[in-house]
Amino acid sequence: MGAAKDLVRLLILVEVVVAIAGPGAAALSMDYYAMTCPFAEYIVRNVVSEAVMGDPTLAAGLLRLHFHDCFVQGCDASVLLDSTAGNTAEKDAPANKSLRGFEVIDKIKQMLEAQCPGVVSCADVLAFAARDAVLFAGGPYYGVPTGRRDGSRSVFSDTFTALPAPFLNASSLISLFATHGFNVQDMVALSGGHTLGVAHCAAFKTRLTTETATLDSGLGSSLAAACKSGGDSATATFDRTSTAFDGVYFKELQQRRGLLSSDQTLFESPETKQLVNMFAMNPGYFFFAFQQGMLKMGQIDLKEGDHGEVRKSCRVVNSGRW
Ligand code: HEM
Repeated sequence: MGAAKDLVRLLILVEVVVAIAGPGAAALSMDYYAMTCPFAEYIVRNVVSEAVMGDPTLAAGLLRLHFHDCFVQGCDASVLLDSTAGNTAEKDAPANKSLRGFEVIDKIKQMLEAQCPGVVSCADVLAFAARDAVLFAGGPYYGVPTGRRDGSRSVFSDTFTALPAPFLNASSLISLFATHGFNVQDMVALSGGHTLGVAHCAAFKTRLTTETATLDSGLGSSLAAACKSGGDSATATFDRTSTAFDGVYFKELQQRRGLLSSDQTLFESPETKQLVNMFAMNPGYFFFAFQQGMLKMGQIDLKEGDHGEVRKSCRVVNSGRW
């Protein structure tokens, strides 16, 4: 009887752990590098800290790299592979042209290879670096389970449907994120990643003429002026505090100061408006929901066991070709 009770307790515990960690978590663990590269997290944190102190805008770049990695064929560092003579890689797709922070990842990887060669995957480096970037920008800290493996496929056309376009409305965003197991709250909280960084006019200029009813007129005029003088490559920040991870992004959506259509739609749509209001009022709750979302995001379609490798250089597969 006692043994049966213990078994039931054990099963409940396993279920709770799986429920917290989410699907795909079986391959990951919190102490994955404890024996093989115990200082891996510190090495990543030191390099990210130095990089972000030198250029605070890099936090945005590092966060976005992890997102664009995970949404295209899972978190397998495919976004880091360089194009080759016969293949245009993900990083050269239009949606990835403005990705930043590759040099920071290279530096981390070089240091890890010097310390413990062939052990820490580039996909794990991306997950750590994104977490630390958020932390140094003032955002929440969360433990990153590790053990991801690096993939060998990186094809630019894979990004076309996998990455959300800036003109998507709330319903389309909900559907796209749902394909990876995210609920509406996850999607809105993760969109809060736009508390950091900038977008180019090419991504928001249509909103300036087609969405005047949901665009603060002062912001509309200044964005239009910026785009007129700088063209598609001019940039604007997502919110007024673009290097600080905070709740200002959501407050600005309430003021109709969202930069992309896909930002403002979150306040305009009844499906997501309450979440925007809640995150704007309670940044602590936004931080909590963002952590949950990032944990899920870091576990999308993981390569397990023989599927995948630990790359020596994040820019090329180990065989040198694929
Ligand atoms: C919800 C759907 C999303 C859409 C449609 C979207 C779209 C975009 C676009 C168009 C840009 C600007 C690109 C440019 O013009 O250079 C951008 C930047 C950015 N995105 Fe997203 N994004 C989404 C979700 C996310 C998520 C989930 C995260 C992270 C959790 C994220 C993090 C960022 C960051 C940090 C930047 C600024 C990058 C920089 O300053 O270099 N985005 N996003």
